[in-house]
Amino acid sequence: MNPDLKKILYTKEEIAERVTLLAKRIEKDYAGKDVVCIGILKGAFIFMSDLVRQIDLPMTLDFMMVSSYGAGTESTGALIVKKDVDSKVINGKHVIIVEDIVDSGRTLYYLKKYLEGRGAVTMAVCTLLNKKERRVVDLTPEYCAFEDTPDEFVVGYGLDYAEKYRELPDIGVLRPQIYAKAK
Ligand code: PRP
Repeated sequence: MNPDLKKILYTKEEIAERVTLLAKRIEKDYAGKDVVCIGILKGAFIFMSDLVRQIDLPMTLDFMMVSSYGAGTESTGALIVKKDVDSKVINGKHVIIVEDIVDSGRTLYYLKKYLEGRGAVTMAVCTLLNKKERRVVDLTPEYCAFEDTPDEFVVGYGLDYAEKYRELPDIGVLRPQIYAKAK
């Protein structure tokens, strides 16, 4: 185990098992539909690559990079879009937004608003982790690998602290000393 971790929360085997289950659900739900998966960089890149390789359907893939202002105003102006997708990517498609974690829910709440009006037939959210108790806006992901993720500093499998630990194969809880040092 990486010495900066307090404990492993989800092992790579547990993650793989959950990702397979999600992929098979999506495969069933979207059979015969024109699907685009949009991964939200950077956190979702590992989850998305494992997920889409197990969904046996034709689809297109794209990426966005966004962040929310935090406690912003109730408008789409609360979203910072660093990398967008072309409207052609979404128009007429069943869109699945792929995220690593839903925390306050703000990022996805504003992202869904931002993408409205671009002609998606349906829009769903697929997340690896869900910190339900942290939610401050009305946002419920349609697909989730791990519900009720504890309110701890989780890293690994794409998730970072100060851009580190994304490459770890398991998801672990960071030792408080590590992030306390940076304050
Ligand atoms: C994380 C995560 C979501 C967002 C969730 O991204 O990937 O996009 O925060 O938080 P929220 O529900 O409170 O809005 P982050 O800004 O850390 O960027 P990263 O994906 O590049 O790590």
